[in-house]
Amino acid sequence: MNMTSPQNPDLPSDPDGGLQAPASAAPAAGNAATSTAPSGTSHIRSFVHRRAHITPGQKEALDRLLPQWSLPYRRATLDFSKAFGRSAPTVLEIGFGMGETTQKIAAARPEDNFLGVEVFNAGVGAMLKLIEETGQTNIRIIQHDAVEVARDMIAPDSLAGVHIYFPDPWPKNRHHKRRLIQPPFIALLASRIAPGGYIHCATDWENYAEQMLAVLGGEPSLANTSSEGYALRPDFRPQTKFETRGLRLGHGVWDLIFTRK
Ligand SMILES: C[S@@+](CC[C@H](N)C(=O)[O-])C[C@H]1O[C@@H](n2cnc3c(N)ncnc32)[C@H](O)[C@@H]1O
Repeated sequence: MNMTSPQNPDLPSDPDGGLQAPASAAPAAGNAATSTAPSGTSHIRSFVHRRAHITPGQKEALDRLLPQWSLPYRRATLDFSKAFGRSAPTVLEIGFGMGETTQKIAAARPEDNFLGVEVFNAGVGAMLKLIEETGQTNIRIIQHDAVEVARDMIAPDSLAGVHIYFPDPWPKNRHHKRRLIQPPFIALLASRIAPGGYIHCATDWENYAEQMLAVLGGEPSLANTSSEGYALRPDFRPQTKFETRGLRLGHGVWDLIFTRK
């Protein structure tokens, strides 16, 4: 993928967009509910493919801007400094939805890089529109399953932080296995965070908050920043539309911030 752009001189000219090793043939995301890793292990996906509505503006942004701001999923470690055209602390955001929160945080923290991972076209199109409208240069997008991105593209001990805001709650008991916050995935993410870096999760589902607290608290390489269990919402995280809706429905909102030991 060519990441150069006359409109964005900050983008790197590396034709591989920061991918360090020659990629092996990577399968497309496909429609399967499970995904098979190179080693043969598989995971249950935290999302299902559905025909989500996409506006003409989002579709146009997707077609025109995706090559400019996205990196392809490959089974190769990403070189953040090449991907962002600068060396800076890099935060992974998983499931950025329509991207409003990502853009606001990226604007408030211009000294940091934000790597947003999202699967759905409408959200990626909306994020691309926001990037163009605001002139944000510290966001890159990977449109792929975040589990595979973390596993295959993120080097160990490399992230300054991970943001997972309002992940799909999968409220039915029989669907809890689809929840993103599970011990194996948190162990994987923890291994990608540099010592001293952080993972910040938020949810408006009490039962999921309890699961998050148990899973994050059970990961030996992480330490809770709050002696109370749940943390206060940090100033940099704006209230999202999911949060606003949850509060309107009378749900609470729970933030969890753990650091890598
Ligand atoms: C409930 S929405 C929350 C969006 C946003 N974080 C917010 O707070 O408004 C969860 C998002 O996570 C995305 N998602 C779920 N599983 C994912 C995965 N494995 N990889 C990437 N994105 C995922 C979904 O497509 C969806 O957009």
